Amino acid sequence: MKLIVSESHGQSAKLAAGQIEQCIQNKKDALLGLATGETPVPVYEQLVLAHKQGRVDFSRVRVTNLDEYQGLEQDDPCSYYHFMRGNFLDAADIPDGRFTIPKGNAEPAAELRRLNAFAAANVTDLQLLGVGVNGHVGFNEPADVFQDGYHIVELTGETKQSNACYFPGREIPGKAFTMGVGNIMRAREVVLIAFGEKKTSALRHVLEQGPVTPRVPVSILKFHPNCTIYVDKALMRGITPGPGIEVL
Ligand code: F6R
Repeated sequence: MKLIVSESHGQSAKLAAGQIEQCIQNKKDALLGLATGETPVPVYEQLVLAHKQGRVDFSRVRVTNLDEYQGLEQDDPCSYYHFMRGNFLDAADIPDGRFTIPKGNAEPAAELRRLNAFAAANVTDLQLLGVGVNGHVGFNEPADVFQDGYHIVELTGETKQSNACYFPGREIPGKAFTMGVGNIMRAREVVLIAFGEKKTSALRHVLEQGPVTPRVPVSILKFHPNCTIYVDKALMRGITPGPGIEVL
């Protein structure tokens, strides 16, 4: 596992975007697995800039996303579909036909069949991840077991509290569709980006010696053969990278 510590989150985002651009340069029709939330926004800004400047060719790139709140319509301003269109897809000229995301308002069993069939037929070339303060990846919350494929998850109180700010004046949904940890681990390349001291505790479970456990889902990345982690200095305060972490 590679660890790249930058002065700022903005710097980490530039480097992470550079790795994604390289992936697309190597494979024009790469399947990118993408994330939502505050953390990847500057990564998308960098990718859109690269697209506008003609440095990256997104014309064949395909995108899939980690998760979606259950019950939300795609055009709901709080949906992750809406987030992706607004922050990346439209500006990068990636149409719906090349974008796969759980449909929050779909009949759950049929939707899970559709998503798991997609995952069985397509290998993600590069999976971009953020991490929750409780160590969740996608919406794989702390649990007794790691889940393999797409499933529906009950969001923890901590996650609902962290994300309540994105639902002004309304209640945050209690459940979500999420890609499983198995899906994430089958990506050819994983890029995790995180910043700030509120994520220190979660990253300690990846970067320091200690068990891989579904109680801290992000810890599974210790077992990924091609994972790069971008963090800022503030997050790293108090973490001593263990053996097996290549600090660049
Ligand atoms: C979102 C996702 C989540 C977020 C995590 C961090 O698609 O998969 O795991 O990456 O909750 O969110 P932020 O970046 O808002 O701190």
